[in-house]
Amino acid sequence: MTAAAAAPVCHADHASHLRATIVAHAQVAERTWRIRLDCPEIAERAVPGQFAMLRIPDRADPLLARPLAVYDTASVDGHRRHADFIYLVHGKFTTALPGLRVGDELTVWGPLGNGFDPPAVDHLVLVAGGIGQTALLSLGRERLGQAAYGAPARSAPRARRVTFCWGARHAGMFGEVHDFRAAGFDVHLATLDGSAGIRGTVVDLLDTVVSRATVGDESVHVACCGPGPMMAAVAKWSAAREVGCHVSLEEPMACGVGICFTCVARIRQADGGWDYRRTCIEGPVFDARDVAWDE
Ligand SMILES: Cc1cc2nc3c(=O)[nH]c(=O)nc-3n(C[C@H](O)[C@H](O)[C@H](O)COP(=O)(O)OP(=O)(O)OC[C@H]3O[C@@H](n4cnc5c(N)ncnc54)[C@H](O)[C@@H]3O)c2cc1C
Ligand code: FES
Repeated sequence: MTAAAAAPVCHADHASHLRATIVAHAQVAERTWRIRLDCPEIAERAVPGQFAMLRIPDRADPLLARPLAVYDTASVDGHRRHADFIYLVHGKFTTALPGLRVGDELTVWGPLGNGFDPPAVDHLVLVAGGIGQTALLSLGRERLGQAAYGAPARSAPRARRVTFCWGARHAGMFGEVHDFRAAGFDVHLATLDGSAGIRGTVVDLLDTVVSRATVGDESVHVACCGPGPMMAAVAKWSAAREVGCHVSLEEPMACGVGICFTCVARIRQADGGWDYRRTCIEGPVFDARDVAWDE
């Protein structure tokens, strides 16, 4: 158990609010859009699993910014300049966003949170539910040596193989799957209605795809993002096989920098109890064993 000892990553001092221009914006799946911001301050520094806070400027409703994972970054003239986000139309903010056009601006701050930094393993298994894939693409790309992230670029151990398991309600919810295939991941899909991949949940998929993950196999590690119950199930699956697992929690957030305490989750402590931790600065990524899933 490591979370109790982890030092919070406090971004409050340097997370200045920026105006970022939208340079691309398109629908990529049912209720799912991809937006590219001209935002070198985030693109240069973001590491896999970090997020940014976004709000529509000059509007009082929604007043609060919303967190979105940095999906990937792109370079212009050799400099990381663009940050991509993928969002599911859900509530007030994400319903308003598709109305914005290229050339419009968003207020953003980030990159925020700790991000993923799993141990060196041969086989990295990325597990996404719903819109959780957004936190995982860059991690797999980094571990296959296809891209480097952070300033200065962090050195990350290479994996020999990256498997990507993605579960959704039906085929129409999968957007930009080609990004994961183009990155060289071994891609497997599951849908509840059987319209793409296997019929079932992403945990059913794990049972079929990661059959070689025997008890205590230290050459396999799981990184997971999605709805809470799905992550709890993946955490249980990993614990039963003694396979390491990190999860990116998606608690609602208001400030993203440790001030408001909106984002707390129950995290186990070294003494066996649990305490509330701010997922924006001590997470959003935690060792799955440290999350008090059902207490
Ligand atoms: C670190 C992090 C990264 C994220 N990355 C992405 C991403 O890449 N793409 C994406 O589409 N979404 C992402 N989310 C989720 C997104 O921030 C929320 O869904 C956000 O609330 C959407 O704003 P909204 O105004 O559209 O919905 P809201 O109006 O805020 O929410 C509508 C309803 O959902 C509930 N709700 C809000 N947030 C959550 C939540 N996290 N879990 C459960 N219920 C919630 C509210 O209570 C309300 O009932 C991320 C969240 C976190 C914490
Ligand atoms: S979102 Fe404000 S403290 Fe975490």
